[in-house]
Amino acid sequence: MTLTRDEAWNKLALHTDPTLEDLFSEDSDRVEKFAKRLELTTGLAGGDADCGILFDWSKTHLTEDLLTDFEALAEAAGFDDMREKMFAGEMVNPTEGRAAEHTALRGVGLDTSVEEADALRERMKLLTTALHEGAFGEIKHLIHVGIGGSALGPALAVDALARDLPVVDVHVVSNIDGVALEEAFAACDPATTFVAVASKTFTTIETMTNAQSVLKWLADSGVDDPTGRVIALTAAPEKAVEWGVDETRILPFAESVGGRYSLWSSIGFPIAVAVGWDDFQAMLDGAARVDAHFRDANGRENLPLRAAFADLFYSRIKGAQTRAVFAYDERLRLLPDYLQQLEMESNGKSVTVDGHPAGPTAPITWGGVGTDAQHAVFQLLHQGTHLIPVDFIASVEAGDTLDAAHHTILLMNCFAQGAALMAGKHSDDPHRNYPGNRPSATILCDDLDAMTFGALVAFHEHRTFANAVLMDINPFDQFGVELGKEIANKIEKGGERFDASTEALLKAAGLG
Ligand code: F6P
Repeated sequence: MTLTRDEAWNKLALHTDPTLEDLFSEDSDRVEKFAKRLELTTGLAGGDADCGILFDWSKTHLTEDLLTDFEALAEAAGFDDMREKMFAGEMVNPTEGRAAEHTALRGVGLDTSVEEADALRERMKLLTTALHEGAFGEIKHLIHVGIGGSALGPALAVDALARDLPVVDVHVVSNIDGVALEEAFAACDPATTFVAVASKTFTTIETMTNAQSVLKWLADSGVDDPTGRVIALTAAPEKAVEWGVDETRILPFAESVGGRYSLWSSIGFPIAVAVGWDDFQAMLDGAARVDAHFRDANGRENLPLRAAFADLFYSRIKGAQTRAVFAYDERLRLLPDYLQQLEMESNGKSVTVDGHPAGPTAPITWGGVGTDAQHAVFQLLHQGTHLIPVDFIASVEAGDTLDAAHHTILLMNCFAQGAALMAGKHSDDPHRNYPGNRPSATILCDDLDAMTFGALVAFHEHRTFANAVLMDINPFDQFGVELGKEIANKIEKGGERFDASTEALLKAAGLG
C-alpha cells in the first residue's frame, strides 16, 4: 500500500529507541548491513586501481525496519521521479524556472547538455594548456576572485589536491575585506600573476570590487595591460565583455548550473591550473561514478539516499539541530566550510516546494579537523546535552610522507572517537560519566586522490538533493541571501532611514 508523505513520516516517528549497543548485540551482521563500499574505478579512465570509499553507518541508529519505512517515505515523496527529472535536465528549480545540470558537467545528463558542457570544457582545457605552456608569458601565480559557490569549491579542491608542487600557485580570495586581497598580493609577484574573475552573474559586489583592486595592483606594479591578464569564469559572458574582458579569455558555463554546484564548470579553472588537466578530469570522473550510482541504485542501496535517511532520522525524528563533520585529513580542512554552503544554502528553507510550512529543515552544518577538534570541541560531543550526529571522514593512505606514526595516530584517534561516542563509559561520579549511545558515521576513502575527491563532493551534492526531496523543499534557490544585499545597497546609495540600532551603528562607524 502506498502511503502519503504524512503517513510515512508518522510511521517513522513510531519507531522505538534501541541503543547502539543493543543494535550491535542483537545483530552480528550489523557492520555488513550498514557499511557499504562504493568502487570508483570501474570503466573510468584517470583513476588509480582499486580505489573506493567505505561508508559506515553501523554506529548510527538506522535499522532495517527504519530503512524500509524511509523507503516508503521516498516513494511517497516521488523520489525516483524527481531524480529522473534532475538527470533529464527538466525544471527541478521551479521558483527560478531552471533545471539543475551540474551532473551534465561530469558527462551524466541530458545529451544536449552533456555535449554543450563537453564543448565548453574543451575550451577551458585549451586555455589551461595555453597558460601552462607559456602562451601568456611566464605565469607562476593565479589570483582567483569569487565568493560563495564561485570560491568555496575551488578553494577546497586546490587546498586538497595541489599540496605538493602545484603547477601554478593559486590564491582564492573571496572576502571584500581588503585584508584578504592584501594577503594574496604579498604572496604573488605581479609580473608573473594571472587573474581569474569568477562570478556566475558577473555582478556580485564583493567579486567585482576585488577584481578592480587586482587590476589596480597590477597597473600600479607596472603591468602594461592588466585586463589582458584576466580570465572571466561566468554564466553571463556579455557582462564580462562589458567589463572589459576579451571574448577569447571568457570561459562560460550554463545558467542551469547552480553557484554551489559549479566547481565542475569553468569555475573550476583554478583547480585545473593548480593540479593540471589530468587531475581535474579525474575529479570529474570520480563525480561521474557517483552520479551513475545515484541515478541507478534504488532504495537503501543508494548511498547518498541512505545518508539522507540517517540525516533525516536525526534532524526530523529525533530533533537534532546540528550535524557535525570532522575531517581526519588536513587536506580536507576546508570541507566543513564547503558543506556549510552546500547544505545550508540548499536546504535552509522554511517552506515546501508549494510554499507551505515545511517543518524542520536542514540542521546547522559545522565541524573541523581531527585531531585538533578533539582538543577543542569534542568535550561537548561526549558529555554535552545536544544530540549531534557526527560524520568522520578519513583516508587509509596518508597525505604526508613523514614517519607513518603520524597517519597511524591520526586514524586511530578517528576510530577511537566513534567508538567512544557510541560506547560511553559509566562512572558513579557524574562529572566523569560518559553517557554513550551517541551516533556517528565514518566515511573512509582508500586514498584521497583527485577521483576520490570528486566522488566525495558529488556524494554530498546528491545527499543534499535527496534530503531536499524527502523534505519536499527546493534545494536549488537561495532567496534568503537577497534581503541583506538589498539593504547593503540602500545603505550605500544613502537617503534612507533604518532602525535605530542600525542608524546608531552607521553613525558610530562614520557612515551615517
Ligand atoms: O549570495 C549567494 C550567492 O548567490 C551564492 O549562491 C553564489 O554562489 C554566490 O552568491 C556568488 O554569486 P556569483 O557567482 O554570481 O558571483
